[in-house]
Amino acid sequence: MTRPMLEIIDLSKSFPVRNAFGHISGTVKAVNHVSFSVERGRVYGLAGESGSGKSTIARMIMGLSKPDSGTILLDGQAVTAGRSLRAAKAQMVFQNPGSSLNPRRTVGQSIAVPLAARSLPRSRRDHRIAELLEMVQLPASFAQRYPHELSGGQKQRVAIARALAAEPKLLVLDEPTSALDVSVQARVIDLLVDLGRQLDLTFLFISHDLSLMRNFAETVGVLYLGEIVETGPTANVFDDPQHDYTQLLIASVPVISAEEEAMRPFIPLIDGEIPTAEKLIALRASNGKETNEVEKS
Ligand SMILES: Nc1ncnc2c1ncn2[C@@H]1O[C@H](COP(=O)(O)OP(=O)(O)OP(=O)(O)O)[C@@H](O)[C@H]1O
Ligand SMILES: [Mg+2]
Repeated sequence: MTRPMLEIIDLSKSFPVRNAFGHISGTVKAVNHVSFSVERGRVYGLAGESGSGKSTIARMIMGLSKPDSGTILLDGQAVTAGRSLRAAKAQMVFQNPGSSLNPRRTVGQSIAVPLAARSLPRSRRDHRIAELLEMVQLPASFAQRYPHELSGGQKQRVAIARALAAEPKLLVLDEPTSALDVSVQARVIDLLVDLGRQLDLTFLFISHDLSLMRNFAETVGVLYLGEIVETGPTANVFDDPQHDYTQLLIASVPVISAEEEAMRPFIPLIDGEIPTAEKLIALRASNGKETNEVEKS
């Protein structure tokens, strides 16, 4: 039997709570005896509202924060805070692509950071950067651009390319699309699904957006005040929630009717860019049908 890519066993972490005078007045159990595992090549979703402990779990998996107790096994090996070993196996994509990319580095330089360790000759490195940009459906010319010249969706694609440069087995995605417009979110998720298949990646997908969760995660764990209160195949959990909290979480999602959905304008992207008005008109004419059918980049 093959081991899961990620095993979380009885993980706990508390933080001190300070009062208005800066004195410690108690502790918050951010993560409380959490266990779950993520099978190879699968997408596991962690759902739960703000403060439920999602990012704290992600940070411990990445070795950025030390658990109080419990074990994290990544590809069968124990993760200890700060160990460089896990860097090769797991990479994280953060919520805000604007602040996770260095504004003074070109896109190519940012993507090259994980490649530097491999001391590739320049031509090989440039080739690899172009290849990674292609994987995230951006033109190779983007290597010369700076983050401020990109849209939010494009920046997030660059952050994904940079994560992939390290050739990870596990991608930890902490609210990777919540800073993006709804129409862009879906395309980034589509991209992640494609990449997962192509590269045989395993995903831990963190989101409070249940409709995205439903589309992307195969198994979901619902976190509530640091504890997993319900887990199972995503469709089962959402169609027939057993726990009161899961029912509340689902009930609080605003429902977009099919009519509202149909009225939402859709602008097709070309090479990850919004086309000019002329291009759009030409595209519509050549297609002679709904632009909604065009391009799903
Ligand atoms: N470094 C820290 N110091 C003190 N308390 C912390 C720290 N990090 C997290 N916490 C607390 O731990 C709890 C869980 O926080 P966490 O950031 O993991 O939640 P989350 O589910 O990621 O929320 P969000 O959806 O808002 O990102 C919260 O009560 C938070 O205030
Ligand atoms: Mg968080």
